[in-house]
Amino acid sequence: KMKAAEKLMKVFVTRRIPQEGMKLLSAAAECEVSMWDSDEPVPRAELLKGVQKANGLLCLLSDKIDAEVLDAAGPNLKIISTMSVGFDHLALQEIKKRGIRVGYTPDVLTDATAELTVALLLATARRLPEGVEEVKNGGWSSWKPLWLCGYGLSGSTVGVIGLGRIGLAIAKRLMPFGVQRLLYSGRSAKSEAAEVNGEYVPVDTLLSESDFIVVSCSLTPETQGLCNKAFFSKMKNTAVFINTSRGAVVNQEDLYDALSTGQIAAAGLDVTTPEPLPTDHPLLTLKNCVVLPHIGSATYSTRSVMSALSVRNLLCGLQGTEMPNELTL
Ligand code: NDP
Ligand code: DGY
Repeated sequence: KMKAAEKLMKVFVTRRIPQEGMKLLSAAAECEVSMWDSDEPVPRAELLKGVQKANGLLCLLSDKIDAEVLDAAGPNLKIISTMSVGFDHLALQEIKKRGIRVGYTPDVLTDATAELTVALLLATARRLPEGVEEVKNGGWSSWKPLWLCGYGLSGSTVGVIGLGRIGLAIAKRLMPFGVQRLLYSGRSAKSEAAEVNGEYVPVDTLLSESDFIVVSCSLTPETQGLCNKAFFSKMKNTAVFINTSRGAVVNQEDLYDALSTGQIAAAGLDVTTPEPLPTDHPLLTLKNCVVLPHIGSATYSTRSVMSALSVRNLLCGLQGTEMPNELTL
């Protein structure tokens, strides 16, 4: 009979995660779990220490998993499970080279993220944060014909950059507002675009014809800095720009210029570089820029399901069995 100690798998968890995931993890008798027991990110030095000799790593999108971390972990590391659908924080080539498997959390956060994107779009286009502020600071003097006017979706053209799981879910939610045309761009046309009458167009067409532009692509070397000066200069002066993908898709200096010169009407960002965005950042001085603290998937139920899925991915990775959601490397 094998001694208990012999079959123990060492797991490092980089943060406190929701209860549902923790329960599954504690019930896994084969695991010896150590966790960065905090709601704040694990300091780099603690991460490098924590992963030593680990067989499994459960991480978040704020943990940069690069060659240094993989080397610190050593050859026992079999599985990296991230509690996110985005995987731009993982050095995939290094991970693949070492034969490590990766689990992630697609689909389960699609609805929550699409819903937040619609909320951000409406809040930005209809200037809700400005309005709330005016009520509080006495700026509300009377009903005035042009005061706090914005832009509506009815009859508009919406352009989605990256019609993936979340992009399509956003499009489906926007169509009932009376959107006239739904354009999208990306690497290839999608058959599921038919569900929203989506027209696959070159990005330049999308930029010049859209009243609302929503970025929902993944962050890759190709999309990094995609939304730059040239990009904003092709947009309508009345257009609203929304990004809920990753901050690095946007050149923030160029966005600041586009917003402050009136090149574009407004922007709503759920993601920035860096995160958190420093409180003295120029973008935060602009009334036509609405910035949220990366809360796309932040509903209790979604985060709970994400935590459970990331633990199931981790456990299957440790056992060498099929994962609910394995990333193809
Ligand atoms: P998907 O992989 O389903 O969608 C990503 C889309 O990006 C695909 O349609 C892909 O198109 C497209 N894409 C890739 N390269 C380009 C490019 N060069 N130009 C235009 N489009 C491109 O992922 P999800 O929809 O599930 O998630 C998308 C992203 O959203 C995540 O990677 C993450 O960064 C972000 N996210 C943010 C959240 C938040 O809290 N704000 C919450 C959840 C996710 P193709 O198939 O043709 O390659
Ligand atoms: C992700 O999962 O990639 C989001 O950014 C947070 O849920």
